[in-house]
Amino acid sequence: MELFEVLRRRRSVRRFQNRTVPHELIEKLFEAAFLSPSSFNKRPWHFIVVDDREKLKALSNAKLGASGLATAPLAIVVTADESRSDVWIEDASISAEHIQLAAFDLGLSSFWVQIRNRMHDERRTSEEYVRELFGIPSNYRVLCIIGVGYPAEKKPPHGEEVFEWDNVSHNVFGEPWKEPGNSSVQ
Ligand SMILES: Cc1cc2nc3c(=O)[nH]c(=O)nc-3n(C[C@H](O)[C@H](O)[C@H](O)COP(=O)(O)O)c2cc1C
Repeated sequence: MELFEVLRRRRSVRRFQNRTVPHELIEKLFEAAFLSPSSFNKRPWHFIVVDDREKLKALSNAKLGASGLATAPLAIVVTADESRSDVWIEDASISAEHIQLAAFDLGLSSFWVQIRNRMHDERRTSEEYVRELFGIPSNYRVLCIIGVGYPAEKKPPHGEEVFEWDNVSHNVFGEPWKEPGNSSVQ
């Protein structure tokens, strides 16, 4: 698929068909992740492939807003070694987004479940919860989980409403770069 077609049509999907994601496609998702840029090319990421139904169910309780993982056949836990890069958040985020875009290009759908800075309950962070579930070493931080699968819901592509040209300034913050209603993006 053409890149802009992927960008326009990719939507977060949180309900999935009961259908396994083939191994070759999972491999392609990681090819996309490994093609990510990273600061100083440090590549601090580490991913956990989760296709165990019990673990997926446990992940769906990591926090509010994770319940879609209960129907996902696959989740990818995105972690990074904070001792290797001071900008691990940026590096890991880009790799996670590469996975989401590649998933859509491969006929799959996905959604991002934020883990960093989120709470499992009043006492435990979502990060601690996920860390314990997989035995993740303490120098690895958990950024997010990408739920992946064949979609069981249909969503329209993004339209003109996302083009917020008033959030683009020209030379000075707040100085319009583009007049409203004059979009050249198809
Ligand atoms: C940093 C980040 C955190 C997100 N956290 C969650 C989340 O915890 N649960 C969820 O269902 N969706 C989450 N999302 C998905 C957003 O809700 C979604 O991308 C947004 O509503 C736009 O919709 P779209 O992805 O269909 O374009 C997150 C997305 C990002 C980029």
